[in-house]
Amino acid sequence: MSIAIALDGPAGAGKSSIAKRVAKALDCIYVDTGALYRTIGLSATRNSVAPEDEDAVKNLLSKITVDLTFNEKGEQIVLLDNEDVSGLIRTPEASMMASKISAVPIVRAYLLDLQRNMAKTHDVIMDGRDIGTVVLPDAQVKIFLTASPEARAERRYKELVEKGMDVKYDDILNDVITRDYNDTHRKTAPLKPAEGCITVDTTELDFEQSVEKIISVIKENI
Ligand code: DC
Repeated sequence: MSIAIALDGPAGAGKSSIAKRVAKALDCIYVDTGALYRTIGLSATRNSVAPEDEDAVKNLLSKITVDLTFNEKGEQIVLLDNEDVSGLIRTPEASMMASKISAVPIVRAYLLDLQRNMAKTHDVIMDGRDIGTVVLPDAQVKIFLTASPEARAERRYKELVEKGMDVKYDDILNDVITRDYNDTHRKTAPLKPAEGCITVDTTELDFEQSVEKIISVIKENI
């Protein structure tokens, strides 16, 4: 039986780092779907395409290719026209652009097959905002991972500072709040808990406790 685990939740809830560990423990592939939206956002920025301009976005999508591959360590690489942009999409600007462009219905439709095909061809734990609701509604386990905005901003802040970025906590918190609003209020595939999902709140859990909790939830439900 193939494994499909949907992991949804707001920005900074710890989905990606937790999912990476869970993927190793369960011997499946971790698919980070946010990277796909970030990549389209990067392409829009490079081509001066405004997310609000649907015709321009449509035209852009007809010209680019976005693909996922995995390196020898099993880490996801995202390709924009065959260029590895995995590092370039990790800035606060790219986050905000991804949030805006992901509200455009044709962008979501464009990425749907790619995501579903990954789950058809691999055992996956897939993280995003609409995996349990739209992309893989039949996933064996659907988890909604959340934490308070302050806890999420704090974690993101530490992560960016560790990477040597010059960022302010208040800016990150504002970004988290704005992105939460965008992600939950858009018309197409808004962020919300999927039917039948299990909600895990990590505000009071450290990383190891969160990993343990998710693995036990999966094992109980698979
Ligand atoms: O998970 P992330 O922070 O890398 O996601 C970047 C943006 O992409 C986020 O603001 C919401 C959007 N996104 C989405 O709409 N649907 C997904 N499945 C994944 C991400």
